Amino acid sequence: MEFSSLYYIFFLFSSFSLFSYYLLTNKFMNLNPWCKCEICQSFITSSWREKFTNLPDWYAHLLQNSPTNTIHIHTLNNTVIAHPKNVEHILRTNFDNYPKGKPMSTILGDLLGRGIFIVDGDHWRFQRKLASLELGSVSVRAYAHEVLNKEIEAKLVPALLKVPSSPQPPSSVIDLQVEFRKFSFVNICKFSFGVDPTGLDGLAEAFDVASKLSSERALSPSWITWRAKRLFNVGSEKRLKGAISKVNALAENIMQERRKIGFTTKMDLLSRFMGSVSDDKYLRDIVVSFLLAGRDTVASGLTMFFYLMARNPIAEARIIEESNRAMGPQHSSNSSINFPTLEELRKMHYLQAAIYETLRLYPPVQIDSKFAINDDVLPDGTFVKKGTRVSYHPYSMGRMESIWGPDCLEFKPERWLNDDGVFSPVSPYKYPVFQAGVRVCLGKDMSMLSMKVVALILVRRFHIRLADLNWTPHFVPGLTATLKDGLPVVVTERLV
Ligand code: HEM
Repeated sequence: MEFSSLYYIFFLFSSFSLFSYYLLTNKFMNLNPWCKCEICQSFITSSWREKFTNLPDWYAHLLQNSPTNTIHIHTLNNTVIAHPKNVEHILRTNFDNYPKGKPMSTILGDLLGRGIFIVDGDHWRFQRKLASLELGSVSVRAYAHEVLNKEIEAKLVPALLKVPSSPQPPSSVIDLQVEFRKFSFVNICKFSFGVDPTGLDGLAEAFDVASKLSSERALSPSWITWRAKRLFNVGSEKRLKGAISKVNALAENIMQERRKIGFTTKMDLLSRFMGSVSDDKYLRDIVVSFLLAGRDTVASGLTMFFYLMARNPIAEARIIEESNRAMGPQHSSNSSINFPTLEELRKMHYLQAAIYETLRLYPPVQIDSKFAINDDVLPDGTFVKKGTRVSYHPYSMGRMESIWGPDCLEFKPERWLNDDGVFSPVSPYKYPVFQAGVRVCLGKDMSMLSMKVVALILVRRFHIRLADLNWTPHFVPGLTATLKDGLPVVVTERLV
């Protein structure tokens, strides 16, 4: 028999096996791909696009209009919640019933292995303890601060200074999302691996491709499509495999190098974890999870902060005034950067409020899912059948009148300040931007520090305006909020 005929038979056999597996799993997972209810039909046919540009806006509309702020997408076996009591239930009260589950580890497993982001049980507990200890240590925090300041001075500010100051589009237009992504990647790589990825042949590109293609698996109309491509090593799955191999090879080199030169005095996460983990594959998985967790989230928060600053010049002026009071004015545009000390930052309540307010309206993680391992009943009375995906939706919760009042769609940093102008937080279950409860984000403090310092330095030094005044955010689906066409802005220096 010819090779092509054998290949054909093999292809048919594999497709049949995958299809049978698909039907069985659908039944087992309670998926209902042909559900006729209004929400599912709108989801399947994408008719929600007739009224909404962004999928999370449609979810926000549905959740706001549901009496319990809960909806069901039967076709995905997904219960979506937005009431703080329900959120607290899955993230704290009945945490053990809502692990990350298998679907997440299947989608991201090739890239993240057994990394903290996608594991449950003992692996999770071990990494959580290890990472909490290191991220809480004074020396690791000081190292993170040092890396941050160096990157702002050496890369971020010069990148914006390079922009021609003549306000003639298109030459003076830059994409701020691109700049923040580059910056965040270098920053998180130095923090996690102790190396600058710009010196490593293709790490940034390989990591970009690997995280993008891994998360696109979740968007595939059916998982059968990407599984089949992986089986035959074709198309996007072939590219994904290549990109992951490259990330692995570079990570291995870094680890071998580090073991040779010694790691005990170094403060990057890899070196800190090396003392407790001797299996290099496991070590790679742990550190790569941090790259994924810390990269696009911070970039997304900063991008949307500058979008909101461009729309709210009064808030921007208040941030500058507050910083002038706390640390003195920026003397001239060519003097060296005046970085705030931690003490000065602590005094800037309005800045902190403006960042919280940005993340309320534009959370970097718009939706996050868990999987019920046993039948359960949510505080609002919703029955959750074993195996159901239960997602909380920070994007919708930030737009809930019942949580934030009738001005919930307005950007108002003042809502976070008490009568004395002091920042006062709300329950994390009303604002689960960093998740909340048992598995709350481990990088919250570090990312707040990064966003505050970057926001402050750039606001004081540059005038950043939208290139198109009619621009509105258009997100593409993915793990982290990403703007379809970036954020085109015009940058000019403030001459003081
Ligand atoms: C604005 C920035 C950030 C936001 C909004 C954010 C948000 C989140 C959210 C929503 C989760 C839960 C994800 C899930 O369960 O699927 C999470 C988990 C996590 N984040 Fe962040 N994050 C940010 C920055 C960072 C940074 C900079 C780091 C690293 C230094 C980091 C490290 C982690 C880790 C390790 C976890 C997993 C925790 C666990 O499962 O126990 N995050 N984050």
